[in-house]
Amino acid sequence: MATSWRVLLALLMFAAGIHYWPLKPAPQALAMPAANTGDASPWGVDYFPNTPLLTQDGEQVHFFDDLIKDKVVAINFIFTGCSDSCPVETARLRQVQKILGDRVGKDIFLYSISIDPYNDTPATLKRYAEKFGIGPGWTLLTGEPAHIEQLRRRLGLYIEGLENGRSKDHNLSLIIGNQATGRWMKASPFESPYILADRLGNSLHNWKQASAMTNDYAHAPDVRPPSSGEQIFRTRCSSCHTLGIVEPGSQPGIGPDLLGVTRQREIQWLTRWLKMPDQVLAEKDPLAMLLLAQYKGLAMPNMRLGDAEVTAVLNYLEEETARIQTPIAAAEKP
Ligand code: HEC
Repeated sequence: MATSWRVLLALLMFAAGIHYWPLKPAPQALAMPAANTGDASPWGVDYFPNTPLLTQDGEQVHFFDDLIKDKVVAINFIFTGCSDSCPVETARLRQVQKILGDRVGKDIFLYSISIDPYNDTPATLKRYAEKFGIGPGWTLLTGEPAHIEQLRRRLGLYIEGLENGRSKDHNLSLIIGNQATGRWMKASPFESPYILADRLGNSLHNWKQASAMTNDYAHAPDVRPPSSGEQIFRTRCSSCHTLGIVEPGSQPGIGPDLLGVTRQREIQWLTRWLKMPDQVLAEKDPLAMLLLAQYKGLAMPNMRLGDAEVTAVLNYLEEETARIQTPIAAAEKP
């Protein structure tokens, strides 16, 4: 009996997104202590290259000295011409930045480094930052191709074939860490932005900051198993889209709110759009072109959803519309 409730508790905490077991160890490439420097962290200046890089403002910086030394950081590798995994990751990091507020740029720093330095000049990166509404404290960088490859290898984020515009494993191009303590971990962009923000803001800082959370477990909501459509929405779409009621104080997404969209658009159009937005845009579909212009030229990425996933997520959008919109409409009637 005593063990079974422990198992149950562990499962409940897991379902609620609270992972109390140790995180995965640092990636392999990092598990190689540098020569003894007397540093607290084995991964110091002897391990990380001091790569010269250019920011989106054309300013020259050095990777170790200026970007990571004694800092808590999130680093990912992107290229602005990438149409699938990078926009999802960038949108997710943008949510993390919003949650962390003005701590970004003070005690937490975000970096996106281009792996396509031939095309990604500082000016190109600056336009990308504007398109995504990237705020201060998050720097976009470019540099010499060979230097950047070395940096990716050292961070354990070198992915074969990403250059072709599509990675087989795009869960693995984000790393977060604290250079001073030597704690580094890979993170998935499909993870909840709140969990990523919590790691950057609390655990990597060894919980130095008092938590502003006043919630306690007595008031924890019941854990409700999400439908597959809801799961897809939360992991794949919520980085860019909201769905109706937005929590007070939070920001709208970088894509349109999707409440009611299942009633505004033809189902055939929606189905095709979700399966191949890139193709629909390439055909210059008038509605898609209108939306593209409205959203500063930011194209929705092709999420490679299968038929069943498209149906599941559209069902979820319709269910939420019925749940939220219908009562509002009914209440507005005289
Ligand atoms: C990286 C950001 C991003 C992600 C991730 C994303 N979208 Fe979008 N989406 C957009 C943008 C931007 C637009 C509008 C501009 C355009 O047409 O490309 C859009 C447009 C749409 C539209 C059309 C809205 C309308 O008014 O007709 C629908 C529907 C939609 N997205 C659904 C989804 C769903 C479902 C997912 C998850 C499976 C998803 N999107 C993932 C950025 C994103």
